[in-house]
Amino acid sequence: MQKLTVAIDGPSGSGKSSVSKEAARRLGAAYLDTGAMYRAVTWHALDAGTDLSDAAAVEAAVKAADLFISTDPDLELVTIHGTDVTQAIREPFVSEAVSAVATNLAARAELVSRQRAIINAHERIVAEGRDITTVVAPDANARILLTASEEARLRRRGLQLGGTQSAEALEAQVLARDAKDSTVVNFTVAADGVATVDSSDLDFEQTVTAVLAAISAQD
Ligand code: C5P
Repeated sequence: MQKLTVAIDGPSGSGKSSVSKEAARRLGAAYLDTGAMYRAVTWHALDAGTDLSDAAAVEAAVKAADLFISTDPDLELVTIHGTDVTQAIREPFVSEAVSAVATNLAARAELVSRQRAIINAHERIVAEGRDITTVVAPDANARILLTASEEARLRRRGLQLGGTQSAEALEAQVLARDAKDSTVVNFTVAADGVATVDSSDLDFEQTVTAVLAAISAQD
């Protein structure tokens, strides 16, 4: 099969993880969730008692992190120093802390370099995150910004968390994380040459179809 790198960016709740994973399956490609890498190093820093406001300590923790992430779209597995953190990194305490790591430029540089190495090691891969189309893989065969209205994104995040949080608490959390994240990466406006797919009024299958169409139009 032909070599293929697909880069997909978008805000939380745009559906990018599940849609990217399904697109990878249908393309016979590997799948890289870069957000899971930021989450895993954040979990580890918290577990080690690192002060997240200490930039040098965060940088050191990320550089030393022994991180493994599965790139099989049918095997969700993230380990750090041998500990399986696949579920733990989805906990709200990690979501609340992750921007402190993601806004540390040295930590980002370290993770970007690891992400490029993973992408280069695969013949075919779909990588998703916030800066894949612009920083990690600007030369990808296909680049997509997956967006959705604020209302649609909050509705989806509510479903993902199982409806345990009040709408107001959820809204405050998601919007605060997006606002912090957007101080270092612009994932709301498509860069030159990046196709936008708006999933606000699309269901899952329609979104996957639209993403696959955008990939073949560029590849
Ligand atoms: O995609 P997900 O919501 O799991 O990402 C978690 C966090 O990781 C984001 O809120 C952001 O702070 C960070 N991130 C990033 N760059 C990426 C992917 C994720 O800064 N490429």
